[in-house]
Amino acid sequence: MTTDSPIGIFDSGFGGLTVVKAIQAALPAERIIYFGDTARVPYGPKSQITIRKYAADDTAILMRYQPKMIIVACNTVSALALDVVEKSCGNIPVIGVLKAGASLAVQVTKNKRIGVIGTQATVGSNAYACAINALDSDIEVISQACPLFVPLAEEGFINHPATRLLAEHYLTEIRQRGIDTLVLGCTHYPILRQVIEETIGNGIAIIDSAEAVALRTRELLMESGLLNQSSKAAVPHLLVSDLPQKFSMLYQLFMGSELPDVDLVEV
Ligand code: DGL
Repeated sequence: MTTDSPIGIFDSGFGGLTVVKAIQAALPAERIIYFGDTARVPYGPKSQITIRKYAADDTAILMRYQPKMIIVACNTVSALALDVVEKSCGNIPVIGVLKAGASLAVQVTKNKRIGVIGTQATVGSNAYACAINALDSDIEVISQACPLFVPLAEEGFINHPATRLLAEHYLTEIRQRGIDTLVLGCTHYPILRQVIEETIGNGIAIIDSAEAVALRTRELLMESGLLNQSSKAAVPHLLVSDLPQKFSMLYQLFMGSELPDVDLVEV
């Protein structure tokens, strides 16, 4: 393993690109290999057994590229199967988005009332509340599953009336519970951030764990002497399990940058 080895990042689909964007901004020289499991998205409504199987498959795909680190850019996998990823990749470091988001939210809240929105599996696992309360047991966590946000993001409905309607539906109750911080507990949700922010209203801090993950990545690479010191910006290598053309279109829409190669892999 060398400083030039890639960082492997995966998600069920397109949402993990929010993490890729943050890593690129913080660590432009790092080579990224990204896998989006577009054939099997969404993970959120599936059972724990299935999600754990998918997590092992996704890790195995990235391990073919001998990464120096794996980032689980999927809250659902971070909540239900982080141990599976850790076991499947030997002794390389693994970072999950959930812990990063939880600790950032704990630092930000003033009134100790944190809202968390995520997939059904993430909310049902109670993993955010556990991670937050492990850091501060006085914090109240109010959670809401927002399953239809994932297909809206995958469709690129960034500012669509349907997204506004569903945001109103999902966020009305949580808005009335006096939270001062809202965690976007699914990596697809930052794609819909503008609508979520406008619907939840002023004065509520929005937590996107992508930046916290980028900071943690830098720390870990420095600690292990594996930070890429090149002055050249790297272009990510993208892998998907279905519909590479659709992924390309969404990549351009969301990342606003030139499209790297998107390769199809079998899961
Ligand atoms: N983006 C994923 C997450 O952070 C999962 C969305 C899904 O596949 O349901 O949970």
